[in-house]
Amino acid sequence: MPAEVIGKPIDRVDGRLKVTGAARYSAEFPVKNLHHGWIVQSTIMSGKVASIDTSAAEKTPGVVCVMTHTNAPKIGTPQGNFGSGGVFAEQRLPLADGVVHHAGQHLAVVVADTIERARHAASLVKVTYDDVTTSLPTLREAMEGASEPGDWFGEQLQYKRGDVDAAISAAGKDGVVFEGTYETPAETHNPMEPSATIAHFEGDNLTVYDATQWIVGTQAILANVFELSKDNVRVICPFVGGGFGCKGFIWPHTILAVMAARMSGKPVKINLTRAQMFTSCGHRPETIQKMTLAAGKDGKLTAIKHETTTYTSKVAEYVEACGQSTSRLVYKCDNVFTPHKIARRHVASPTFMRAPAETPGMFALESAMDELSYALKMDPLDLRRANFAEVNGISNRAWSSNFLLECYDVGADKFGWKSRKPEPRATRDGDHLVGYGMATATFPGLRFPASARVRYYADGKVVAGSSTHDLGTGAYTVFTQVTAESLGVPVENVTFELGDSTLPRGPLAGGSNSSATVSEAIVNAVDDLHKKMIEAAIADAKSPVNGIPADDVEARDGKVIAKADDAKSEPFTAIIARAGKPFIEGSASAAPTAEMRKHAFQSFGAHFVEVRVDELLGRVRVSRVFSAIDVGRILNHKLAKSQIQGSVVMGIGMALMEHTVFDSRTGRPVTDSLADYAVPVNADIRDIDVYFTDKADPYLNRVGCRGVGEIGITGVAAAVANAVFHATGKRVRKLPITPDALL
Ligand code: MOS
Repeated sequence: MPAEVIGKPIDRVDGRLKVTGAARYSAEFPVKNLHHGWIVQSTIMSGKVASIDTSAAEKTPGVVCVMTHTNAPKIGTPQGNFGSGGVFAEQRLPLADGVVHHAGQHLAVVVADTIERARHAASLVKVTYDDVTTSLPTLREAMEGASEPGDWFGEQLQYKRGDVDAAISAAGKDGVVFEGTYETPAETHNPMEPSATIAHFEGDNLTVYDATQWIVGTQAILANVFELSKDNVRVICPFVGGGFGCKGFIWPHTILAVMAARMSGKPVKINLTRAQMFTSCGHRPETIQKMTLAAGKDGKLTAIKHETTTYTSKVAEYVEACGQSTSRLVYKCDNVFTPHKIARRHVASPTFMRAPAETPGMFALESAMDELSYALKMDPLDLRRANFAEVNGISNRAWSSNFLLECYDVGADKFGWKSRKPEPRATRDGDHLVGYGMATATFPGLRFPASARVRYYADGKVVAGSSTHDLGTGAYTVFTQVTAESLGVPVENVTFELGDSTLPRGPLAGGSNSSATVSEAIVNAVDDLHKKMIEAAIADAKSPVNGIPADDVEARDGKVIAKADDAKSEPFTAIIARAGKPFIEGSASAAPTAEMRKHAFQSFGAHFVEVRVDELLGRVRVSRVFSAIDVGRILNHKLAKSQIQGSVVMGIGMALMEHTVFDSRTGRPVTDSLADYAVPVNADIRDIDVYFTDKADPYLNRVGCRGVGEIGITGVAAAVANAVFHATGKRVRKLPITPDALL
């Protein structure tokens, strides 16, 4: 039997394609007669288009058409949802009218034969506006008229359990009450690959190459907007150069590319510029979070009040639900209140960004826990241990598996937490103040419905597939491993296909669900394949297992074998060859089961961070990070580690650098390049080490894995801020922690 392959740190199966440039991203597909669409965006945040003069652009050589709200083809309303696949990110259709709701709103698309001609012609489109708004209220100013929405994805946004106020006043007498307000800025995903769509009609058949985290969602939305059958819409996306959420929902530029293709009669590509990415596919909105924690002298929490204030745009319903899967469940506490208030602002629509809600939410909760630990004169790690939640406090369900305490222990040990002196400013190294900080990490363990197929060929090769995605995460590789191990064949024999809507239905690549979701579908498809192999063999007079009842024959390691007599066996390849088929296929769907409702699925972890702060310059260096993470069974240690390291890097960026700044006069992001929007580079990053508990989750799926893509960023910014406090004695409650905050 081939050795176990799940868990092995094998190299990416698509690694060679990537380093040789052979991996094709959406904007890179060669399509004959491809034309280019260049988007003209609004330069104001709110008002009306008074006139849009396209005459000069239309006369430019190579221009086929200029599409505006006055001449755009009519389209239908997107009907998507999570069930049927596909959510359009905004309530308003692109080019629906001349009303402007945010700076950077798409007002026209110029289609030309070359990108240079399209871009030049776009520069000649003259737009005038009426009723222009020239002042963007801050989030605080915008709170007048804010709403208190009832729910978000079926979860209570104004959640309450127990009596928070009574617990807070009781703790005021014989315990400790801590109150603090934390702020996180708007942030932008900035994947390496900007979004791009190529739309190509051939008769009624539409082929779309789209940089997307949701192939079947894009297919569903385009089918209903353009009134096509889903069978006539093919979405192709074999590689995604990072998404982090900004390619999850379907955004206007994708629909515009198809509209432009329909209007021009040419295949059209729209490739967003880096600057356009700041207004065209979401961002993480700013949050203001007021935390009130009450605890007894023993450190046990008696109340958590987590009040979130954030915003959405005028054309999207998005809630950065900071209190949801943070303060409601990370710690044991009987009295919890997590209200959310949402303002509507004239900014581009926000959306999910890596661990949406948990990332800003855990900055607030884990900073507040650190502050509480000083108020209690208790070690911050001991405070967490004292408040370990044995069950999910919202549902009172048992965790499917939870090794958070092991993460605390191993993390503290490997990091050297014991050597931490409790007092701030107690450790110096040359010019640097050295500080240690820690925080808990958490993210839900999700699994969605999906399908997969496994084809076993007569030559022993296996090709499996599902229309799932590889965002650079390693999905190709881990699904190859899951397929190989469930079949009991060498990993080299297996190819996994994804990124094409003609494959069996895959899930949205969001909420870190894909590994848990697609693995289950693969294992079920392998069962189906095995069943078919047995059926074919026992019915075949030439098979050594001919005539044996199916229940007395098993299939494993690429063979059918009589249970009573090992000698009666034959390889699948023989069965397929005799059947005269190129391959035999197994396929299956997998959906979350009623049984799963008995458990709560949540991943946890702990980050330990060392910072070195140059007091004279106010410069913070994150010199060391140790992250201990419990995400169930690890499918590939190398890739999983890489996911956590990447997440930690993003968390360091959040802590120290990232900030999308909107100009208060125009509403435009002024940081709309990678020169002005700072993210960590290699020189900013030192040691990041990762430990996985690597214990199979017995209930989420048959493989035992939970998602690993998002948990790594949660808590990092708090751990950094906590370390900065420990180093300097300065508590920074507003991100990013730039030098001015420390001088
Ligand atoms: Mo993620 S923000 O769920 O793509």
